[in-house]
Amino acid sequence: MHRLEEIWLSVSAGVLVLFMVIVGYQAFALGMGPPSHQETIDPQKVDETEPFDEPGVYETGENEYEVVMTLQAFSFTPNEIEVPAGAEVTFTMTSKDVTHGFQVAGTNINAMVMPGHIQKITHTFKEPGNYLVLCNEYCGTGHQLMSTEIMVK
Ligand code: CUA
Repeated sequence: MHRLEEIWLSVSAGVLVLFMVIVGYQAFALGMGPPSHQETIDPQKVDETEPFDEPGVYETGENEYEVVMTLQAFSFTPNEIEVPAGAEVTFTMTSKDVTHGFQVAGTNINAMVMPGHIQKITHTFKEPGNYLVLCNEYCGTGHQLMSTEIMVK
C-alpha cells in the first residue's frame, strides 16, 4: 500500500473512533436525558403519580397558574385550558407513551415532552385570545390530529 494511503486510512479510522467515544460519552455518562428539566417519572405509572393523577388547571398563587398536563397519542389532557391574560402559567408535562411536542402558535413555547421525564415551561400570555397548541414531534399515524387550544381571557 502507498504510504499516503496508509496515513489517510489511519486518519479516517481515528476520526471514527473519536466520534464513537464522544457519542458514547454523551449517551452513558450524561444519562441521555434532556438537558433542561431533570425530574423523572415512571412512564407506566403516570396515572397514579402526583400531580399527573389529576391533570388540570390550578391556581397556585396570586396571578399564578399551573397546568398539569399529560400528552398521549394523540391528545393533550386536559383538553380545555383557560387562563387569564397576564397570569404566569407553568405547564408541567409528561408523556404516557412516545415523545410528543408542545408548541404554542404565536408564542416562543416549544418543548419536547418525553416519556419518563417531566417537562416544565413557564409563560405569561399577555394578549387574550385562543392559542393553538400543536404536537410537533412525529408520534404516529394520528400525529397531524394532535392539537388543542389555550383560551386566554
Ligand atoms: Cu404527538 Cu405528534
